[in-house]
Amino acid sequence: MKKILVIGSLNLDMVVAVDHTPAVGETIISDKMNLVPGGKGANQAYAAGRLGADVAMLGAVGDDSYGNILTESLKSAGVNVSPLIRRKEESTGIALITVNSDGDNSIVVVSGANKTLSCEDIDRHMALLQEADIILFQLEIPLETVCYAAKKAKALGKTVILDPAPVPKVFPEELYHYVDILKPNETELQMLTKLDNLETDNEAALSKAADLLKEKGVKNILVTLGEKGVYLNAEDTGVCRIPAIKVEAVDTTAAGDSFTAALAVMLAQGKNLKEAAVFANHVSAIAVTRKGAQSSIPSLEEVTKYMQSSILNN
Ligand code: RIB
Repeated sequence: MKKILVIGSLNLDMVVAVDHTPAVGETIISDKMNLVPGGKGANQAYAAGRLGADVAMLGAVGDDSYGNILTESLKSAGVNVSPLIRRKEESTGIALITVNSDGDNSIVVVSGANKTLSCEDIDRHMALLQEADIILFQLEIPLETVCYAAKKAKALGKTVILDPAPVPKVFPEELYHYVDILKPNETELQMLTKLDNLETDNEAALSKAADLLKEKGVKNILVTLGEKGVYLNAEDTGVCRIPAIKVEAVDTTAAGDSFTAALAVMLAQGKNLKEAAVFANHVSAIAVTRKGAQSSIPSLEEVTKYMQSSILNN
């Protein structure tokens, strides 16, 4: 089986259910907070493990109880956690998340140990990069480290997948050259292309945005558009839109992370991008019907059953 490596963040999510997302200066009351394993990198690794992949995670946590919770969660999904770095001098990353009654979230990340993942750490783990076939990145660790590792991965001939979240104020343009598959959501696509009022139900507008990113060096672009489905602009399977699966969303946290991981898992099995995106669409559709980040991610068995039932019902 092809190997997947995730290089990225781990956070313990402090999730608060709210009636509505608080406005600037507004105070609101919630009656519950849940602690859930999260972090965009860890969510991807956890999802890949749950979906049966051979996956390892390179990232940094503190030498504290939150670090233990995150490590154990990844282990429970079958992720190789031996590359995880424990920093004595840092706390594990945390994310403060509100989830409103529509299932939409807002997130503030306190980076902690995530911000210490360095180019030297990448060098020390070069054997991992060499062994991997597909390497996944997001942007909750230092940009310098992402660029360095992605450049190495590219030079080694690996498939590089980037979930450009969160989009930094200044996106490092060189990174585009190392990316085989870029997976922004609607907001991230607008931020990356600086196209205002992008009409994401308009295929020509999306193609214009995708072309801008392709001119910068990206080969394949997949945009997750929530209720508007997934826009795919791929070298091998061309341009298409995969319709959204209608579900009752309770919490969209980690929907994008599980989508990206599912995509990688299918590519590792030799599927093309369109087939992989159809599968990933089902994985994230299940994830949004459940609360939390890693707690919402389905197993391969659940996804298989779900896909079979959607074929029967259509
Ligand atoms: O993408 C969802 C994740 O973003 C959460 O788990 C949180 O930790 C933040 O990193």
